[in-house]
Amino acid sequence: MANNLIVVVENLTKRFDELLVLENVSIEVHRAENLIVFGKSGSGKSVLLKCIIGLMKPDYGNVFINDKNVLVLSINQLNKVRKDIGFLFQGAALYDSMTVRENLSFPLKRHFEEMTIKEIDDKVKYTLELVSLEEAIDKMPSELSGGMKKRIGLARSIITDPALMLYDEPTTGLDPITSKEISELILNLQKKLNMTSIVVTHDLICAEIIADRAIFLKDAHVAYEGNIDDLTKSNDPFLKNFFSHDIKKV
Ligand SMILES: Nc1ncnc2c1ncn2[C@@H]1O[C@H](COP(=O)(O)OP(=O)(O)OP(=O)(O)O)[C@@H](O)[C@H]1O
Ligand SMILES: [Mg+2]
Repeated sequence: MANNLIVVVENLTKRFDELLVLENVSIEVHRAENLIVFGKSGSGKSVLLKCIIGLMKPDYGNVFINDKNVLVLSINQLNKVRKDIGFLFQGAALYDSMTVRENLSFPLKRHFEEMTIKEIDDKVKYTLELVSLEEAIDKMPSELSGGMKKRIGLARSIITDPALMLYDEPTTGLDPITSKEISELILNLQKKLNMTSIVVTHDLICAEIIADRAIFLKDAHVAYEGNIDDLTKSNDPFLKNFFSHDIKKV
């Protein structure tokens, strides 16, 4: 595998009983690239991310992350690979009974047993600065707005300095201004930390800010691939319809 590739998905097939969600899907993601995944609701975007991170087993195919085949790893080996991956789930749930500080400390304690309490606390503060929410450190999630929760969720998923970030609808449910802020934050993180990102989104503003390249899932396949302009300005009737009706625009 060429070492400028961080993720290689090969012929991934996933079905749930009669429902074929992904069929022979192959994707390559380059280091420090931001790849957008589009597709209608139910087209398999979240399933794809879960297969990439090893939370879901495909029926067929392979997923390589940094040259390691995640589907054949033991739990211990998989956890080592996951240390390098951040995942912002659709919904980005924080632990409601924990403060922001505790929410952010959690992945560090889990993955870096050698870190001292002071080192953890410093890292929490530094990461909160990255998302401009230093003042929220001792708040409970219930005291935060939707946009603040997203930012804290983002901070929690990047606090381990992952080389690869997977985002599932990072801006869903946010107003346009907050969506734009979150998208710019994702782009800045990628630049500052040289991260690779795979971003599932329904939000065109978000995609336009972040994307280097986009793919489009349809009928269990990667139906289209290109830069955002190639897709949004395409004359293909399906894409035209998708970008004029199905996608969130401001
Ligand atoms: N654990 C599961 N068991 C059975 N079916 C599932 C499971 N997870 C997903 N599916 C089905 O697989 C299909 C793809 O689901 P997925 O969550 O990947 O869609 P999506 O593209 O992320 O949609 P959305 O944009 O609404 O989030 C859906 O039809 C869903 O019902
Ligand atoms: Mg989804």
